[in-house]
Amino acid sequence: MNNTLLNQPNKETIPEILSIIPTMDVVVFPNMIVPLLVLDEKIIKGVNQALEESKLVFLLAAKDSTNSSEGAIGTNDLYQVGTIATIMRLIKIPEGGVKILVQGVGKGRARDIVSQGDILQARIDPLEVEMNDIETLLPHIRSIKAIAEKMATSGHSFSPDFHIILSKMQDPEKIADFILSHLSLTVEQGQQLLEVQSQEELLETIYHYLHQEIEVSEIQEKIRNNAREAMNKAQKEYYLREQLKAIKQELGEDDIEEIERMIKKLEALPVNQEIKEEVMRQINRLERTAPDSLEATVTRNYLEWVFALPWGKESEDNLDIKHAQKILDEDHHGLKEIKDRILDFISVRNLKQDGYAPILCFVGPPGTGKTSLGKSIAKSLGRAYARISLGGVKDEAEIRGHRRTYVGAMPGRFIQAMRKAESANPLIVIDELDKLGSDFRGDPSAAMLEVLDPQQNNTFYDNYLGLPFDLSKIMFIATANSLDTIPGPLRDRLEIIELSGYTIEEKVHIAKRHLISKAIRDTGLDTKKIAVSDEVVRDIVNSYTRESGVRQLERLMRKLCSKAARSLVENNEHVTFSSENIENYL
Ligand SMILES: Nc1ncnc2c1ncn2[C@@H]1O[C@H](COP(=O)(O)OP(=O)(O)O)[C@@H](O)[C@H]1O
Ligand SMILES: [Mg+2]
Repeated sequence: MNNTLLNQPNKETIPEILSIIPTMDVVVFPNMIVPLLVLDEKIIKGVNQALEESKLVFLLAAKDSTNSSEGAIGTNDLYQVGTIATIMRLIKIPEGGVKILVQGVGKGRARDIVSQGDILQARIDPLEVEMNDIETLLPHIRSIKAIAEKMATSGHSFSPDFHIILSKMQDPEKIADFILSHLSLTVEQGQQLLEVQSQEELLETIYHYLHQEIEVSEIQEKIRNNAREAMNKAQKEYYLREQLKAIKQELGEDDIEEIERMIKKLEALPVNQEIKEEVMRQINRLERTAPDSLEATVTRNYLEWVFALPWGKESEDNLDIKHAQKILDEDHHGLKEIKDRILDFISVRNLKQDGYAPILCFVGPPGTGKTSLGKSIAKSLGRAYARISLGGVKDEAEIRGHRRTYVGAMPGRFIQAMRKAESANPLIVIDELDKLGSDFRGDPSAAMLEVLDPQQNNTFYDNYLGLPFDLSKIMFIATANSLDTIPGPLRDRLEIIELSGYTIEEKVHIAKRHLISKAIRDTGLDTKKIAVSDEVVRDIVNSYTRESGVRQLERLMRKLCSKAARSLVENNEHVTFSSENIENYL
C-alpha cells in the first residue's frame, strides 16, 4: 500500500505528453490495478517509450467496443477523459504483443491527440475532482452502506463480507474504489463515473448503480422463482395424482386404469380439438367424483356413449350394379319399377359420390315391403343398416336427445342409431315418417328437418351428446303409409316412390319364393320336410287374408311351419297341407 503511494507521481512530475493505450471493454480508474494486453505495434512502441521515461501512460477507453473490434481504432473512437497510469510490469508474449500491469494514478483530459513518429500520444491536462467536505458526503456514505446491508440480507451481495468490509470504511475515496472494484459496469457507465466532477457526484452515481444492481438481481430472482413455481405445480399435480391413486386403491375404488384407458382412447379419436377438450373435461370430472356416486355413473354412461360412436368410421360403398340387382331380386319379388329407380340411384352415386342425394320415401299400404326394401338396399351397397321407427314419436327430445341434467337422459334416436350401426355412413330407414306427431313438448318434425338438411346435418347437435356429430354421410330412406300427415317442408325433401299392393298371383309367388323359405329357416325345419302347394297358398290368400301387402300372409306361413315342426317333433310325422285340412292348422 505504501508502495503505491510512493509511486504516486505529483502533478508536477506528470509530463505534458503521454503515450496512449486505448482500452476496450474496460474503464480503468485511478488506484485500480489492471492487466492489459497490447498487440498493436504502434501502441507497443508507445509503451516502450513510456518505460524509458516516466513509466506513465494515458489510458483511454474506446467508445463502442462492438464496431471497433476489428481493425485499428481511430482517434475519434476514443473518449477524451482517461486515466493516467503507471506501468508496473511488462511481459513479452511469445506470439508477439505484450502484457502490462498498470495502476491508475490520476485523471486527465486529452487536449489533442498527436501521432509523433508512429507513436499515438496525447497532450494532457490533468483533471481534478472537486473535494467535498465530509458533512456533504456523509449522507451519501450512509445510504451506500444501507443499500449494501440490504443487498446482504436479501442475498444479492457481491460477496458474503462485502457489506462488513464496507461498514468499516470511512474515507469516501476508498469506499468508491472498493465498490468500483466489484461493480461490473459497461464502458459507458464506467466512463460516466470517470468523468464526474465532484466526490459527491461520484458517490451519488455509485449509489445509483448499486440500486440498479439490486433491482436486476431481484428481477432475476423473480424469474427463477416463477420457473420453480411452475415446476413445483407440475410436480405437485403428479404427486397428488399418485396419492389419489393410492387412496382409491386402498378404498377398492380403483378407476385410475379406467381413466387412463379413456385418455388413450380419446387421443386416438379422429375428432377436432374442441371435441377433444370437451370430452377431456368430462374425463377429468369422472376422475374427481367418487366412483360409486350417481354423478360418476352419469358421467361414465356419457363417456361410454362418446366412445361407442363411430367417429369418422366410414365404409366404402359397393357400387356394382349387377351385384345390387342380384340382391334386390333375391330379397323381393316383382317391384320392377322400384328396383329400377334404386339402380338409377346407385348409378348416379357411381358417377358422383358426393352429389345431391334425394331421400327416397317408399309410400304404400302395410306389408308391401317398404321397410325390408331399405334393408336390402343397405345390403346391396354394403352399408351398415339401422332403422328408426317414428311411430308415436311426439317429443322433440326423441330426435334431439335429452339434456344430461335429466335423470335417465339418453341421446336422441339418430345418435342411438349411429351407435348401433357402428358406421358413420350407414343406411338409415326412417320408418313410418307419417306417424310423427307433435305435442306440448315441441315439434319433432322441425328437428327431423334439421337431421335431413344437408346444410346442417354435418354438425348435428344432440342435447345429450353435447358435441356436434356428422350425420351428412348417412343415406336416408323413409317409409310411410300415406303422405297426408307428413308436413309440407318435410315432404319437399323426399322423392316419393309408391308401392301399391300385390295381386293374388304375386302374393302366391312371394309366399312360395320368399315367405315360406324364410319361415322354414326361422323354425329350423328342413326344406324337404314341408310341402305347401300353390293351391293351398292361393286358398289361404283368398280365404284368410284381406290386405294389399303380405304381412298377414307371412304370419300364416309361419304358423303353418311351426305346426309342421310340432307334428314332426311330437309324432315324427310329416304333414301334408291341403285345401281340406288347412282349416285345422290356422
Ligand atoms: N315383393 C316382396 N318380395 C318378397 N318379400 C316381400 C315382398 N314384399 C314384402 N315382402 C315381405 O313382407 C314382409 C313385410 O314387409 P315390410 O317390409 O315389413 O312391409 P312394410 O314396411 O311395407 O309394411 C317382410 O318380411 C318382407 O320381406
Ligand atoms: Mg314397414
